[in-house]
Amino acid sequence: MQPSVSDMLSVRVWRGAEDGAFEPFEVPRRASQTVLDAVTHIQRSIDATLSYRFACRVGMCGSCAMTVNGRARWTCRTHVAQVLRRPGDVLEIAPLNHLPIVKDLAVDMTRFFDKWREAKGYFAGNRDRCAPLELVDPASPERQAADAAIECIGCGVCYASCDVVGWKPDYLGPAALNRAWTLVNDVRDVQQGARHDAVATDAGCHSCHTLGSCTERCPKALAPTASIAGLKRAGRTRPTGGGQ
Ligand code: SF4
Ligand code: SF4
Ligand code: FES
Repeated sequence: MQPSVSDMLSVRVWRGAEDGAFEPFEVPRRASQTVLDAVTHIQRSIDATLSYRFACRVGMCGSCAMTVNGRARWTCRTHVAQVLRRPGDVLEIAPLNHLPIVKDLAVDMTRFFDKWREAKGYFAGNRDRCAPLELVDPASPERQAADAAIECIGCGVCYASCDVVGWKPDYLGPAALNRAWTLVNDVRDVQQGARHDAVATDAGCHSCHTLGSCTERCPKALAPTASIAGLKRAGRTRPTGGGQ
């Protein structure tokens, strides 16, 4: 049996690249339907040329982030009912902000991850595989600070939500700086001086206006704002001289 009109969901989906436009679709309304379910229905049953990205469907991979009714979200963990509150509301799905659109709902994440590298958001040790394991006390302040920020899955929701990234495209952004902070607190890492230099540039932590959108929107309930504040404090207390 065909669903009745009241069982249908009105959806507007971004099509094309930067110069694209929204295209309307009607999708059957389902119980517990996620935004990703609606996108998948369109691609599988209405228009197979729709491009979008997802993998796990359970909030682990971070690849399904899109702009849903003006706000960056994981589409696999966002129920349609969370977004549409009144009868007649339309679901509007667009690609993430601040990243080039490849096509439709898929953005190019290259610049996002390049900034992790620029912020030295990767571990550098000085031991080989024959050396004994270096123990880190789970109760130490450094380990606790790293733990508080370490569960980032690189979804880009915070980056797309940060107004400073929009105003200042070279700003490293909340995710890269959050990752840098976890490594500042990694007592095994040997590139601390270079990392502090990397995050203290004009495009680094001091450009954060502490607006808090990243922390408000992070689906993992992380607090990049606090991590960036930590980087600012660490820069003030760090001895001058650079080096590793
Ligand atoms: S900090 Fe949160 S919102 Fe930002 S990339 Fe990591 S998981 Fe996503
Ligand atoms: S707190 Fe800083 S990094 Fe986070 S959204 Fe605001 S300006 Fe961007
Ligand atoms: S599909 Fe993996 S987080 Fe949504």
